[in-house]
Amino acid sequence: MNVGLTTQVLAANEAVVALAARWLVEGGLVAFPTETVYGLGADATNPKAIARLYAAKGRPAFNPLIATVGDLAAAKRIARFDATAIKLAEAFWPGPLTLVLAKTGDCAVADLATAGLDTIAIRVPSHGIARDILRAFGGPVVAPSANLSGHVSPTTAAHVQSDLAGRIDLIVDGGPVPVGVESTIVGCFDDAVLLRPGGLPRGDIERVLGRKLAQPPADSDSGQPLAPGMLASHYAPRTRVRLNAGSVEPGEALLAFGPLAVSGVDAATSVMNLSARGDLDEAAANLFGYLRALDARGAHTIAVMPVPHHGLGEAINDRLRRAAAERD
Ligand code: TXA
Ligand code: MG
Repeated sequence: MNVGLTTQVLAANEAVVALAARWLVEGGLVAFPTETVYGLGADATNPKAIARLYAAKGRPAFNPLIATVGDLAAAKRIARFDATAIKLAEAFWPGPLTLVLAKTGDCAVADLATAGLDTIAIRVPSHGIARDILRAFGGPVVAPSANLSGHVSPTTAAHVQSDLAGRIDLIVDGGPVPVGVESTIVGCFDDAVLLRPGGLPRGDIERVLGRKLAQPPADSDSGQPLAPGMLASHYAPRTRVRLNAGSVEPGEALLAFGPLAVSGVDAATSVMNLSARGDLDEAAANLFGYLRALDARGAHTIAVMPVPHHGLGEAINDRLRRAAAERD
């Protein structure tokens, strides 16, 4: 375990982007902003760097990583694109969509990164700093969310620092990210399957496809989960989370949504509103930061008001459900 490293935190500029690329070349671990959440980058073709990355996050090796590349041409060198995948890539890249596709025969991404699967998850981020780092490095970069495994994903450099200081080489600070929840993951198999709701709403994808996305089988009997990272308890704060709260019990903190008050709110130990005007994009951008903040305030429970399910609400409710799930 690489605890005890000096982790530099530097505000993004041209020199820092060049430094990030040098660290990646040398097998280093570099956190940087993407439009969804901060990612922890490593050279996707370097098994040693990837082993360090799994250790730094405390991530189980059966959970594969997303490879980030600069454009569709680079993506085509590592994965096979069918007509559906091309359509989605052309409509939504760069942006908060990850595609799971069959690997190409000469895919340069290390087997360790894909956990031995013959598929690979690929994403082309739209964030300027992520794009600059990818361009300066010139190859595929694996970039899972830059948090300890099982924790809430980071939406600021400070979140990354609180999870990973001493375990990684560099954090490129580009300010808070604009979207706030992870990318939507679509598997392009016989059918297009929604593997993880995320920063690109399902409706946008279904409009481009002209059909509904399929649901993954609830329990894959192949022994190989379609989205191995989608464990029930994930994105978890330490504090207990109670969903769909219609009232606040004494000693609870409240994570509110929308303009209406709930009964008992005066007894709440603290209150944060994801979006007082009921805007789901604003709520997504605030979600992980507010969960971290409330988690740090020592309430016994975080009560969460209901959040509508449309647009980014599907991803918000997915993450809240996982935050509330029983853990071992
Ligand atoms: O927005 C995002 O996607 C962020 C930013 C940093 O890019 N990254 C991210 O990565 O959320 P991570 O590692 O936290 O989540 C990736 C998910 C995991 O649930 C993993 O199991 C799944 O993608 N995944 C990766 N490769 C896969 C594959 N070949 N088949 C199915 N699921 C895969
Ligand atoms: Mg993650």
